[in-house]
Amino acid sequence: MEEFKVLIDEQTLQNRIYELAKQIEKDYEGEDLTLVCILKGSTIFTVDLAKKMNKKLKLEFMQVSSYGKEKVSSGKINLKLDLPNSVQGENILIVEDIIDTGRTLSYLINHLKQKNPASIKICTLLDKPERREYDVKVDYVGFQIPDKFVIGYGLDDKEFYRNLPYIAEL
Ligand code: IMP
Ligand code: MG
Repeated sequence: MEEFKVLIDEQTLQNRIYELAKQIEKDYEGEDLTLVCILKGSTIFTVDLAKKMNKKLKLEFMQVSSYGKEKVSSGKINLKLDLPNSVQGENILIVEDIIDTGRTLSYLINHLKQKNPASIKICTLLDKPERREYDVKVDYVGFQIPDKFVIGYGLDDKEFYRNLPYIAEL
């Protein structure tokens, strides 16, 4: 396979995810927690984050698409898979791979609010603050990165490269 320019290596990712896991554990001490993994980009991050948490929690999955096959957002969010179970009264933590314009996240927050959870917070592995168009409050951020298209560790280019154990620049 091709070699890519590594932006965040595997050990750095895992160390930071451990820190996030411990912070989340502490913040939700004595409370239940439902992690909502946003397919497909957040799968690998969600699994590693969940495994590092010494806590009773639920895992749920949703799928939305915004980018299509292009590197620029299409501007339209398509809900492909909704939560199958009720989350009424639950503490929801949305787990995202990357926040770019914030469009996907603002859609998700509005959508999930209608399900009457006890709380909604957001955890993202990557954040591109320069690109923000929608005002969303993010509670946990793994890494802030510059405005570059990245792949690996769940993130794809035309559905490929999600299995790289590191984040690379395309
Ligand atoms: P937003 O709605 O503009 O915030 O875009 C968020 C979504 O766009 C993410 O969940 C990713 O699927 C995708 N995305 C944004 N930036 C990148 C990138 O650099 N690489 C791969 N996917 C990206
Ligand atoms: Mg994507």
